[in-house]
Amino acid sequence: MSPMPEESRVEAMRQIVEEILRCRRCGLWRGRRNAVPGEGSLEPLAVFVGEAPGYWEDLKGRPFVGAAGRLLDETLLSVGLSRKDIYITNILKCRPPGNRDPRPEEVKACTPFLDRQLEVIRPKIIVTLGRHSARYILSKAGYTISGITAARGRIYRAVFWDREVHILPTFHPAAALYNVRLRKYLEGDLKLLRRELEEQGLI
Ligand code: URA
Repeated sequence: MSPMPEESRVEAMRQIVEEILRCRRCGLWRGRRNAVPGEGSLEPLAVFVGEAPGYWEDLKGRPFVGAAGRLLDETLLSVGLSRKDIYITNILKCRPPGNRDPRPEEVKACTPFLDRQLEVIRPKIIVTLGRHSARYILSKAGYTISGITAARGRIYRAVFWDREVHILPTFHPAAALYNVRLRKYLEGDLKLLRRELEEQGLI
């Protein structure tokens, strides 16, 4: 299917962002300072999907601007990629209190926004960060995972929007912040992303 013209993509994403900013579909709007819709290229090399905004993201209204975001940026740079190359968003657009796990009803209420964002961009590659994101995106492709440690580090094939999409689950950078041993896996997985981009002739 042919991609949307750039102008329509920008307008469709603007509309989604506007709806996210005034969303009250679950209780999380009550505690938010800012909703965090996502940001980046609308013609990205890959879309990255995290879990939910944390303290700094809620404060600034932008995804991955805290310590986990810095680690992600460094790891991207280490494989020759940067934030400019990607679009990045989350499963939940508002911060859960105390950064607790997303609840099923919140995921259900919020993911129609993510689905629409993905549909606007129609990425060839989706990188999921952490188990919540992996579980949601892989389940859309018919995969069930037992956990992120077992699922990460390989490419899953899906058909979305009548075309093949590759999904690469990896650890959440926040997990790699606290468990330094995970960093080499995060880096290895992003190297795999780079190889995949090269193989697809995208870089
Ligand atoms: N963790 C996430 O999952 N998303 C963010 O935007 C920041 C931290």
